[in-house]
Amino acid sequence: MQKCRVMSPEIAEAPSLEAMIRAGAKALSGSQSPRLDSRVLAKHVLSVDDAALIVRAADPVTDETKRAYDGVVMRRACGEPIAYITGVKEFWGMTFRVTRDVLIPRSDSECLVEAVVSRRPRGSVSRILDLGTGSGCLLCALLSEYPDAAGVGVDISGAAVAVARDNAARLGLAHQSAFAVSDWFENVDGAFDVVIANAPYIPDGDRAALVIDVSEFEPDSALFAGGDGLAAYRDIFRSACDYLTPDGLLVIEFGTPRQGEALREMIGTIWPAGEIGVIRDLAARDRGIALQLEPVGKKD
Ligand SMILES: C[S@@+](CC[C@H](N)C(=O)[O-])C[C@H]1O[C@@H](n2cnc3c(N)ncnc32)[C@H](O)[C@@H]1O
Repeated sequence: MQKCRVMSPEIAEAPSLEAMIRAGAKALSGSQSPRLDSRVLAKHVLSVDDAALIVRAADPVTDETKRAYDGVVMRRACGEPIAYITGVKEFWGMTFRVTRDVLIPRSDSECLVEAVVSRRPRGSVSRILDLGTGSGCLLCALLSEYPDAAGVGVDISGAAVAVARDNAARLGLAHQSAFAVSDWFENVDGAFDVVIANAPYIPDGDRAALVIDVSEFEPDSALFAGGDGLAAYRDIFRSACDYLTPDGLLVIEFGTPRQGEALREMIGTIWPAGEIGVIRDLAARDRGIALQLEPVGKKD
């Protein structure tokens, strides 16, 4: 990603919308997807959709729009993720508001939602707990699939809890959800059929290996978890038994195959009778674990 720069003369002098977008893409050549980023930012500044960009391609652009566009292109060129610039991110077909207080929802995390939906038919889930809710994306996605269920989302960050609560309200899920500031289970009561967690799992020493978009912009509390990245899950596993129903489902995300192995080992020790399922992401990489406490249908 290139360093910050002064206003691009090519954007300032662009004779049309299409030329402005081309100039934006050129200024974003350090990005992995310059053309796409450039178009998304143009749509954001103009508050229009894809179709309008095509229809208006040859139209001239006002100086005010060019200034606004140059400003967001500059932010992106400095590494700021698109979602923080536009303030929104799609997840599970829903639009979430995001701020720099929350991790940007990743499409790979949708496999956690799928893992629950594929194991629990509608009507079989009453209470869901989302640990480290961030934007609230996992909880809201699940509540949209289980309209009869109630969900609790907790996060150690008060600012994140405010974003999650706002997202639930915007998505019409306020009546199904409650959010609280909590150090994992600290302020949680009762037992849950489903406990889901995308806890921080990046080893502290891996900061330098992260792209700037992540390391410089996303909250540290959402990313890092001790020397091996598993500190958060060790904390969670210590208490999880007390908050799962006897046939509950625990679904978690991790980052690397080695972490997956270590987590499966820990889980096998704590819940020797549990059934461990591997969750794969869109690229067919191991991404999570689904622990079924007492396998449904195998009770004595
Ligand atoms: C990787 S982010 C996941 C956010 C969201 N669930 C998602 O999938 O996009 C981890 C979240 O855990 C929260 N967190 C970190 N430590 C925590 C703790 N001790 N108790 C509760 N939440 C914590 C962070 O603030 C962050 O929002």
